[in-house]
Formats: sequence, structure tokens, C-alpha cells
Amino acid sequence: MVSMVGRRDPALGAVFDLDGVLVDTARFHFAAWQKIAAEHGFSLGDEVAESVKGVSRDEALAIVMRSGSIRLSAEEAARAASRKNDLYLETVKDLNENALLPGAAAALRLLHSRGIPVALASASKNARPILQSTGIAGYFSAIIDGTVVSRAKPDPEIFLAAAAALDLEPGECVVFEDAVAGIEGARIAGCRVVGIGDATVLVDADSVAESLADVDWGAEFGHADVVKEIR
Ligand code: BG6
Ligand code: MG
Repeated sequence: MVSMVGRRDPALGAVFDLDGVLVDTARFHFAAWQKIAAEHGFSLGDEVAESVKGVSRDEALAIVMRSGSIRLSAEEAARAASRKNDLYLETVKDLNENALLPGAAAALRLLHSRGIPVALASASKNARPILQSTGIAGYFSAIIDGTVVSRAKPDPEIFLAAAAALDLEPGECVVFEDAVAGIEGARIAGCRVVGIGDATVLVDADSVAESLADVDWGAEFGHADVVKEIR
């Protein structure tokens, strides 16, 4: 039986969210939703930005329309979701490695050089092309995305699938997440979670770093020289 790794034990695998953790795309998702809201006659306040992070496209649409007190038929909802995706894809069509967030490339290089397996756990159905265009696809042993899971974060399904794909117990993995919904899902799955972003928002994470460049890699993965190399 594999025992659960305690808080201070080194993790054996890393599970990354994509949008807002590795790649600077969360703002493009939100900008597309703001445009959709405007097209439906209301303005989407910045306070909605946190709640659409991490959740599936359909769930985000429901949140956006609720905030504008708009009810859509199933057909209208499908059209709005598809239009949002078109707007989003337009903004990411020329994405390259410059869109990687601080510390992302260095973290992936470091984990790779240490033989620590890495999985993606992203709700996005656009994850694979974005990994390709930013040049980081090759670092992932497993890609669990919105095309393969049926239940949206905060359901733990995506994190359980990511750990299983790495052949690890959830408790042996550290998840890197910028979304409240993702942190909740990762915790329910039994993973350790490093929140990436604002500590006053990501209150349920085990620890919070402003970006991947600020993570204490040595503490997470137990290599004495990790911190030195990542900077
Ligand atoms: C997540 C984003 O990664 O993917 C969410 O944080 C987004 O904002 C979700 O709704 C689904 O993305 P897509 O690309 O399938 O519309
Ligand atoms: Mg995210």
C-alpha cells in the first residue's frame, strides 16, 4: 500500500493547471466573456473574474449570464458558448513562448531534469494547442483536459485522473492552481495545493506564491539545490 505523503514530505509528481498558472491566458478568457456580456446588453464586473476561473466553458457561461440576470435557451447558450470560444481563439492565435508566466519554463525544465513526472489538469478544451504554441507540450507525461473529463472543477475528477495517469496517489502530488474552484477540487482529491496568485483570495491552498517563480521548490520536492536553480 502506498502511504499518503505528509505536508513536509517531498512530493513525487507535479500537476499544473494551465490558464493563469503556466500561461497568461486567464485574462483573455475573461475579456471574451466581457464581450459576450456586452453583446447581451450588460457589463461584466471585474468581481466575476475569480468565479469564471477554472470552471468549464458551460459553467462559466452560466455564471456570466446569471450576473447579468439573463436566461438563455439551450440553443442560445450553445451559440453564446461557441461565440465566446471564437473570440478567445482569436486572441490566442499568435501565442508563443512569450505568453508563459514568470517561472513556468524554469519550473518545467527543473522538474524534468529531476525526473519528477508532470501532468496537466486543465478544464480547457483548448489546452493542447496552447501547450504546443507556447512550446511546453513535451514536458507533460499526461494531459488531462476539458476534452477528457466530464465533471468541472471543483469536482476532484480531473486531479484524480492526473495523479492516476502519473501512476501516483493523489497525496503524492502537488497541484499548482490559480482558481478557487481548482484549489477546492485538488483538496477534495487529497492533493497538496500551491495557490498561484493572491493569498487573500486563495485562502484554502496549503501555501500561496505570487507566481511559479516564487514557489519554494525545495520545500515541495525535497531537493536542496532546487531553489538555487529555479531563480
Ligand atoms: C479554464 C479557465 O482553464 O478553462 C476557465 O480557467 C475556462 O476560465 C475553462 O472557462 C474552459 O476553457 P475552454 O478553453 O474550454 O473554453
Ligand atoms: Mg487557471
